Amino acid sequence: MMSGMQTPVVAVGATDWAWRLGALVAGAVPLLALAVWHCTDAFHRAAFAFRRRGTRRARRLPPGHMGLPFVGETLALLWYFNLARRPDAFIEAKRRRYCYGDGDDDAGIYRTHLFGSPAVLVCSPASNGFVFRSAPPGSFGVGWPDPELVGVSSIVNVHGSRHARLRRFVLGAINSPNSLRSFAEVVQPRVAAALRSWAAKGTITAATEIKKVTFENICRMFVSMEPSPATAKIDEWFAGLVAGFRALQLDIPGTAFHHARKCRRKLNSVFREEVERRKLKAKLEEHDDVMSGLMRMKDEQGRRLGDDEVVDNIVSLVLGGYESTSSAIMWATYHLAKLPAVLAKLRVRKPIK
Ligand code: HEM
Repeated sequence: MMSGMQTPVVAVGATDWAWRLGALVAGAVPLLALAVWHCTDAFHRAAFAFRRRGTRRARRLPPGHMGLPFVGETLALLWYFNLARRPDAFIEAKRRRYCYGDGDDDAGIYRTHLFGSPAVLVCSPASNGFVFRSAPPGSFGVGWPDPELVGVSSIVNVHGSRHARLRRFVLGAINSPNSLRSFAEVVQPRVAAALRSWAAKGTITAATEIKKVTFENICRMFVSMEPSPATAKIDEWFAGLVAGFRALQLDIPGTAFHHARKCRRKLNSVFREEVERRKLKAKLEEHDDVMSGLMRMKDEQGRRLGDDEVVDNIVSLVLGGYESTSSAIMWATYHLAKLPAVLAKLRVRKPIK
């Protein structure tokens, strides 16, 4: 009888304690996180002031916050970029939080901590101008997060005289009157055929269809490849490569960066095989395309591009010419559909000279 009366008392006490503990944890954890959050910022401000002690220049950091220890504001940035898909909103949130009123006090410069390093975001034309003007010459180099993804000997990755030399090769292969004429001759009938096929379909998703026809044109003009399962794979590898350019550089299976590196290796191998095939069979003259143009050309000293330079620059040219051209064609199609008078003028055909 006694034990029957006592058991419920013990049970109520345990539940009570569990509730209290739960409430304590629920209240304490956010408070602790808030304290750590503020302390990290205070620590960075103090460290900055300490380092600048004795100098007469301003010791104030720009507005903003250094976030949590180690991770800083990386998670917030990734959330805005990758999940919310609104990269500008990261800056907007800072502007709303740290700059008040009509924005007169907003110089477009904020402190933060990203990817393991204290950082200053400079995001207005005036503040960028100020930074570039006041920085000692050579302070800033233009570069890609991972040069190997873009190609170490690509035109977009090399500077100075090497860049100028590559530029002459690339311009010769894609921007001379002869190459432009032959591109137009290849592209015009293909785009006209695509337009006819879209008209027959009735409704199409313009962005998807235009990307498809643009990629087919690029494969034909750059490496003389016609649409096939192989070019579909190449298209997939390019998409994987592009997705990794601005991804977090975590080279572990499952990440966009790891996948991009794999795609890059596959692209290298497929274009390198093509270079070898053309060299071995001396088939350079057979192809009227950008790859053969790059392989044939010589500089003032009579030197040709190396195989890696050809491969890296073919990949870069596809990247440079793919999204840009397909977006341009898509918007041209959209606006021409909206402006029949302009379309009628364009229909008065002029032969390619
Ligand atoms: C509507 C089409 C295009 C637009 C709007 C566009 C835009 C641009 C812009 C703004 C730049 C940077 C220029 C600079 O930093 O000085 C650039 C560079 C470049 N573009 Fe394009 N582009 C287009 C088409 C193409 C095509 C079709 C190709 C290749 C076939 C291409 C290849 C390149 C290359 C290689 C560079 C780097 C040049 C260098 O660093 O010297 N682009 N493009």
